[in-house]
Amino acid sequence: MAETKKLLRSLAGETQDVPPVWLMRQAGRYLPEYRATRAEAGDFLSLCYNSDLAAEVTLQPIRRYGFDAAILFADILLLPQALGADLWFETGEGPRLSTITGAEGLNALKGKDDIHDHMAPVYETVRILARELPRETTLIGFAGAPWTVATYMIAGRGTPDQAPAHALKAEDRATFEALIDLLTESTIEYLSQQVEAGAEVVKIFDSWAGSLKGEDFTRYALEPAKRIIAELKSRHPGLPCIAFPREAGEAYIGFAKATGADCVALDNSVDADWAAAHVQVDGCVQGNMAPNLMVTGGQALIDETKRIKAAFAKGPHIFNLGHGITPEADPENVHVMLEALRG
Ligand code: CP3
Repeated sequence: MAETKKLLRSLAGETQDVPPVWLMRQAGRYLPEYRATRAEAGDFLSLCYNSDLAAEVTLQPIRRYGFDAAILFADILLLPQALGADLWFETGEGPRLSTITGAEGLNALKGKDDIHDHMAPVYETVRILARELPRETTLIGFAGAPWTVATYMIAGRGTPDQAPAHALKAEDRATFEALIDLLTESTIEYLSQQVEAGAEVVKIFDSWAGSLKGEDFTRYALEPAKRIIAELKSRHPGLPCIAFPREAGEAYIGFAKATGADCVALDNSVDADWAAAHVQVDGCVQGNMAPNLMVTGGQALIDETKRIKAAFAKGPHIFNLGHGITPEADPENVHVMLEALRG
């Protein structure tokens, strides 16, 4: 049967007059119904591990906006926790983890096959969503890329320049590479279980890929993505994969071909016309409107939506932001964007 879901059609390489659309962080604090459900769960992590409520917040933006895709509600930092790291969120600040500073910390972690009991509620969220989503909506599963997850595990928090991870890479390369390998292998097991539970597409978030340069980018961003995608596709033939090497710049060129990804997600630091000429020539791209326009709105939001749609109109495209929608965004502006996009 010919594919009918809009998102899957773009991922298969089809050019559509109106591209499919969803937003990173579409289930998030800008929505009052999200804030209410998070309060009911108690806190963010309790929400991630409460399958019924995590499914509920995943569905909220689908009900409100009719997006073409739903992304599993979870977090990239659940994997370190499943591997044995401590994880908590400081209100108003962000994630905190126990740190990996050398071989001892690495050796205390669990193995790649020991994560599934911890992740059982996440897989259950996927099963609920596979049952409850509208038939035209595609379900996206996800994980963090090894490098990005490693930056949080090494520093114990988010950092502007990922300096602690770069330092471990320079000073104790064996431990650093063993951590990247463990994350690569456990990400394969984690995503594979999401697919078994009903995820139709997987996305790999490498939010800090831009701080890897030259040979480091190849070794620690490109190679792990390639390994993950190759193994997932061998276990699940035809599984579409989206890669997001955020702020890769020139290194976006050829990334899809080199990793086997079906789509590369673009951040908003790259120009859409440039990306159409240099990245979309290889296949589907996703992106890449500046998230701030969802705060400021107005005619600029309408114009920019149309400009990005037009820039990518000659090839397969999934409309999205260049990064997550922020808590300050006005929910009404999402309707404005959808009206400008779908007409
Ligand atoms: O709607 C969705 O996009 C699906 C769920 C999702 C979340 N995080 C929920 C979340 C996804 C796909 C992520 C990915 C994620 N998590 C990334 C990669 C994408 C990116 O943003 O670069 C990263 C780096 C993380 C780690 C993380 N989680 C940080 C640094 C923070 C704190 C910053 C912030 O936005 O508060 C989180 C918290 C988080 N993850 C929230 C949500 C909805 C906000 C938590 C809350 O409700 O208080």
